[in-house]
Amino acid sequence: MLRRGRFERAMDPLASEYISSMGADARIFYSVVQINLAHTIMLAERRIITEQDAAAILRALYELHERGVGGLDLRPELEDIHMAVEEFVIKATDEEVGGKLSTAKSRNDQVATAIRLTLRKGLLDVEERLLELVSALVALAEKNTDAIMPGYTHLQVAQPTTFAHWLAAHAFAILRDVERIERAYDAANSCPMGACALAGTSFPIDRVRVVHLLGFKRVDENTMDAVSSRDFALQAMSSLAIAMVNLSRLAEELALWSSAEFDMIELPEEFTATSSIMPQKKNPVVAELARAKAGRVLGNLSGALAVMKALPQSYNLDLQDLTPSLWNSVDETRDSAGVMAKLIGAVEPKGETMRRRAEGGFAAATELADVLVWKAGLAFRDAHAIVGRMVARATKEGRAPGELNIEDLRAASNEVLDKEVHLTLEELREALDLDKCIATRALPGGPAPKAVKEQLRTLKRDVKNRAKLLHARRRAITKAEVKLLKGAKRRSR
Ligand code: ARG
Repeated sequence: MLRRGRFERAMDPLASEYISSMGADARIFYSVVQINLAHTIMLAERRIITEQDAAAILRALYELHERGVGGLDLRPELEDIHMAVEEFVIKATDEEVGGKLSTAKSRNDQVATAIRLTLRKGLLDVEERLLELVSALVALAEKNTDAIMPGYTHLQVAQPTTFAHWLAAHAFAILRDVERIERAYDAANSCPMGACALAGTSFPIDRVRVVHLLGFKRVDENTMDAVSSRDFALQAMSSLAIAMVNLSRLAEELALWSSAEFDMIELPEEFTATSSIMPQKKNPVVAELARAKAGRVLGNLSGALAVMKALPQSYNLDLQDLTPSLWNSVDETRDSAGVMAKLIGAVEPKGETMRRRAEGGFAAATELADVLVWKAGLAFRDAHAIVGRMVARATKEGRAPGELNIEDLRAASNEVLDKEVHLTLEELREALDLDKCIATRALPGGPAPKAVKEQLRTLKRDVKNRAKLLHARRRAITKAEVKLLKGAKRRSR
């Protein structure tokens, strides 16, 4: 269709297969049809084509919309779906009428617009799943604000915390992912149509009208930038990559905590698999794959950045190769968040082991040092040294932290400060009491049940607000789509 002017010979079949984006283009089918509908309506309103021609084109496009992508002949020698749609319209009308569809537009502005339209919906789907995951984390946390578990640094027991505090930590991170994706949505919410190849057109088109017909927020302000930039896609891919990094960290801990070595949670059977040879195995396969998918989504981003980094203005076919990575990032993140949300909903904490691990790791050591500061008037650095010495001594003698005694304190303080430091037995016991230790950390953001409940309230409020924005955006998209189709149908009669 395109070559009959400039060329005499067809493209080499291998080359034409190689450069075709047909395989990946089904994804943007509805967006491309919508853009063609909007563009045609605008052309007619501006009297660039006649009402009659517009009616015939709109009829064809409407029919194509009804039939779906299956209505198209997607042979690679057409290069891409834009040509396939044009071919469909020309066949349904005739060359003279259908050939007018391409007035004042190019595949360059059309594809840049189609990616944005398709991406908007994809991002909303991802957000929805991520919000489900946050809700699942919050629901599990609500049942476990008293479940003491060890908090780790360097993967060594550090200080006591609660299972709910840990869950909320992940929930906050994932909510920030949603926030980042909201901003990526906003970056994609502008319309390149009218940019044509790169320099616009002298036809008296109305770019703002197309923006409204397609439900975009604004016009892309520079026509060259409109066709050549993909930073909106990079922004989406980086927000998705960060989201996957956060999901992967959660997945990693689920795998760790469910191992026999930690034994702090039970993963649901529905989300685990066994081995074909080792009959005892219960493998955290969903978590493992979520961890792996993060690698892919990171790879998509770095691949896309590499495609863009030395690209001259304006449109280059390199851009075509970036798009499938974008869709892969959207799909992997959406699916990973969805399955992790279901999995989290069925995780069972093992409260007793959690507590035992916290005790066994001297998780209360910091608290004991703090008590020495409060009760014995020591400088923190001295208290730190004394407790360190107490722990070293107990460990050497194979004693558990609960068995730290007044004698340990006496000996350690003599060694470190050359004087005796006193606590009553009651004070020492209290300092080592994990529940007490948690209860006194009721500062904002802390692990005390009261403080965590406050965090969970914040999370729930945030989920609600973000869901509100999400649904408003969805409604706006649907409204514009319905209106566009109705308008096209009316005009096509
Ligand atoms: N298939 C192309 C893409 O996905 C559409 C634009 C092609 N433009 C061109 N001048 N060949 O980016």
